[in-house]
Amino acid sequence: HLPEMLLNIEDYHKVAKTKLTKPAYHYYANGADDQVTLKDNTESFKDIRLRPRVLVDVSNINTKTNLLSGRHTIDFPIMIAPCAMQGMAWPHGNDNRGAERATARAAASMNTLMVVSSFSTTSMQEVIQPVRKDHPNAALWYQLYVVKDRKLTEDMVKKAEKCGYGAIVVTVDASGIGNREPEIREHFKLPQNLSLPNLIVKTKDGETHSDVFSSVIDPSLNWKDVDWLRSVTHLPIIVKGILSSEDAVLAVKHGCAAIIVSNHGARQLDMVQSTIDALPSIVDAVKDCGVDIYVDGGIRRGTDVLKCICMGAKAVLVARPILWGLTVDGEEGVKKVLGLLKKEFEKAMMLCGIQDVKDCNRDYLLRYNKYSK
Ligand code: FNR
Repeated sequence: HLPEMLLNIEDYHKVAKTKLTKPAYHYYANGADDQVTLKDNTESFKDIRLRPRVLVDVSNINTKTNLLSGRHTIDFPIMIAPCAMQGMAWPHGNDNRGAERATARAAASMNTLMVVSSFSTTSMQEVIQPVRKDHPNAALWYQLYVVKDRKLTEDMVKKAEKCGYGAIVVTVDASGIGNREPEIREHFKLPQNLSLPNLIVKTKDGETHSDVFSSVIDPSLNWKDVDWLRSVTHLPIIVKGILSSEDAVLAVKHGCAAIIVSNHGARQLDMVQSTIDALPSIVDAVKDCGVDIYVDGGIRRGTDVLKCICMGAKAVLVARPILWGLTVDGEEGVKKVLGLLKKEFEKAMMLCGIQDVKDCNRDYLLRYNKYSK
């Protein structure tokens, strides 16, 4: 398989599957329970068709996107979602800290943004510091799992602020870990050569990922904690995992700077709505409140990105496509995956007659089946 023959994200997926160990592949690829929502995340995009306009000058397509009221500008509205344990997707030698660094370098060189997971196999400092040497303006956000040890939580937030992360993305859809059966069957656990340095966790013998998750994550997390988080940092707080307009309104009330409409890649609660279906009512509820709305889940094509932006999202995030790129060809693979999505998105804009991302709106979309207009 020559990399130049990999034409789309699914091509990367197929090759990555042959390179990963079985437990790692299942950990990356699967969703919860019967994986109904996992399928929905990608399939729901097919219920929306595009409605292009013609004879529009599209000789210069503008995809530059401002985030958080101009705090960051990215070249195109596709960011890297927080993704735990990238070390298992690192094919290049023994430096176990290489994976997240490669992803961060790829994001920076494409001029987009990476969200670094609390469960990264490289510490948050070791991800950001080398990247910032070559790309002083590289934008990274830190994804926070609020852990039972609130002192450790606060330390993580302060450390993230100190070492230059631009926002805290607090994941709110993981009060417990989703029931991912393929992972359980495989007794999935972090390989011995990897650790979770942000959480100061070294997996003990026989301890599965699910055990580690349950032992550290705090299920008592609630809106008051969002206020507390805001009190311990100057960084903007972004909530990740919103699926209802009511919660979007609460996020605004509690001072969040942005929300991420997400079902955690269908890895938490099965049978929730696909994110592209959840997006419109959330946009309608908070679009005038000055918060950015991002979305992730099942985005595999440039047309999927266009549908999200036309529906009212400021930007999208992708996770699994990045893992496939990283597995296939390290930093270069992540760059290629981002480049593919960017190119497909630009082409979709062009052929839809949209010159600037700011002009994306629902007139370019047609609903099939579920909600035909
Ligand atoms: C994730 N996701 C995730 N989210 C989060 O907030 N913290 C995390 O540590 C992780 N870890 C993680 C690992 C793996 C292997 C996957 C696939 C996903 C969820 C992720 O950020 C995102 O919400 C979805 O995965 C996006 O959907 P796609 O692009 O994977 O379909």
